[in-house]
Amino acid sequence: MTETRNLYIETFGCQMNERDSEIMTQLMSQAAYLETSRPEEADCIVVNTCSIRGKAAQKAYSLLGGYRRLKKRRPELVIAVAGCVAQQDGENLLKKMPHLDLVIGPQNIYRLPELVESARRQATRTTATELSKDFVIPPFLPQVNGTATNHKRFVTIMQGCNNFCTYCVVPHTRGREVSRKPEDIINEVRHLADHGVREVTLLGQNVNSYGQDRGPAGTTGQIDDFPALLQAVVAVEGIYRVRFTTSHPKDLSPELIDCFAQLNKLCPHFHLPVQSGSDRILARMNRKYSRADYLARVAQLRRVRPDIAITTDLIVGFPGETEADFEATMELVNFVRYDSAFSFKYSDRPNAAAAAFDDKVPEEVKSRRLSLLQQRQEEISREIGRSMVGSTVEVMVEGRSKNSDGQWSGRTPTNRIVNFTGPDSLRPGELVDVYLEEACRHSLRGRMRRAK
Ligand code: SAH
Ligand code: SF4
Ligand code: F3S
Repeated sequence: MTETRNLYIETFGCQMNERDSEIMTQLMSQAAYLETSRPEEADCIVVNTCSIRGKAAQKAYSLLGGYRRLKKRRPELVIAVAGCVAQQDGENLLKKMPHLDLVIGPQNIYRLPELVESARRQATRTTATELSKDFVIPPFLPQVNGTATNHKRFVTIMQGCNNFCTYCVVPHTRGREVSRKPEDIINEVRHLADHGVREVTLLGQNVNSYGQDRGPAGTTGQIDDFPALLQAVVAVEGIYRVRFTTSHPKDLSPELIDCFAQLNKLCPHFHLPVQSGSDRILARMNRKYSRADYLARVAQLRRVRPDIAITTDLIVGFPGETEADFEATMELVNFVRYDSAFSFKYSDRPNAAAAAFDDKVPEEVKSRRLSLLQQRQEEISREIGRSMVGSTVEVMVEGRSKNSDGQWSGRTPTNRIVNFTGPDSLRPGELVDVYLEEACRHSLRGRMRRAK
């Protein structure tokens, strides 16, 4: 019998990191490491880090710092840092923190078991942060076990970003865009569907440019762009819902908009980060679209799919942002009426061009703008929620609701959470119709009418 060891893994950041952590957990389980929820009993700790804002990176650093005492107690413990802070800080992390063993960038996660083994046996300390534009994302079939979230999974379709928005660290930590082979993606989705997965979210920093790095059309068969990939994914039997994230507004093509008219399984939810409502700031951010371009795309999406929920990301306090620029963002938010939005205070990032810009906005101004924006968005989200009361919506069952006894919880096609009463026989991944009776702060409440 092989001896088993314990793996503790902590994940920060975006869905891309969540998926990478699943891959690392699976690879380590093949090397006889079982996941534990207690770092004190781990033989290997992996911290999968995010560097998108200063705070995210600080969180990773302070967590890693705290593990010094565990290493002191058990020198055979292997501590690995993965993700975007690992890529960004490389071997400096090993210099700054002598208790760390491994630093692994996002393109190197597949080497984790081998590197952990050599750290354990030979006490080698390694930095694996090569970042190549010729990187090939390996075909890799996910393990589907009996956990509650098994009805929905992330599928990475590409990595990296070529856009270089001036505030952003991602092109520096994830490298250039690399698309996965379409056949690997379809195989993965088929495999998931065969194991009971009913919803997939296709992941990339900018899914609209899927395939553009894979050479001229035709060299990869029929699937050479994102709309073609979407068509192939919705055609997989057993998949009921397809989502994707994220798309850059500048690359939102008429063909992709058309997918929302043609493909029923494609959920009417579009995350379309705008960042700012001011043309001057958009130009300084290097976003390559204007407010008018953006609004035209929103209008086209709504024309083909009137029920579409549009969500966004916003940054306040970008260097040089005036009150008038901020007002333009507030106006845009009022005009578009986003279903929900993530908003952030601008934060300087290493290697990102805006870190060197003049006219930094004072912290208290950023805080005030953020709270005004969030307050307004919260009102809009609640108004949209209230307008849904009295209608019947399709809900994919997720599991028992966390808050209320005996209730079920699930999501609408627009990704809103619905808590509802229904029979005990329901299973995650099932589609049911729910009559909505009440809009709460961050969810809707209702009663099941029938299974689909
Ligand atoms: N690839 C995605 C965004 C990934 S980062 C896209 O282009 O849409 C997620 C969000 O973090 C961004 O949309 C942006 O709103 C925010 N963000 C990125 N860098 C930031 C920074 N330096 N300061 C504050 N927010 C930032
Ligand atoms: Fe960052 Fe811009 Fe790329 Fe998104 S598109 S990951 S915000 S550089
Ligand atoms: Fe963070 Fe890297 Fe994702 S910086 S948001 S983990 S791509």
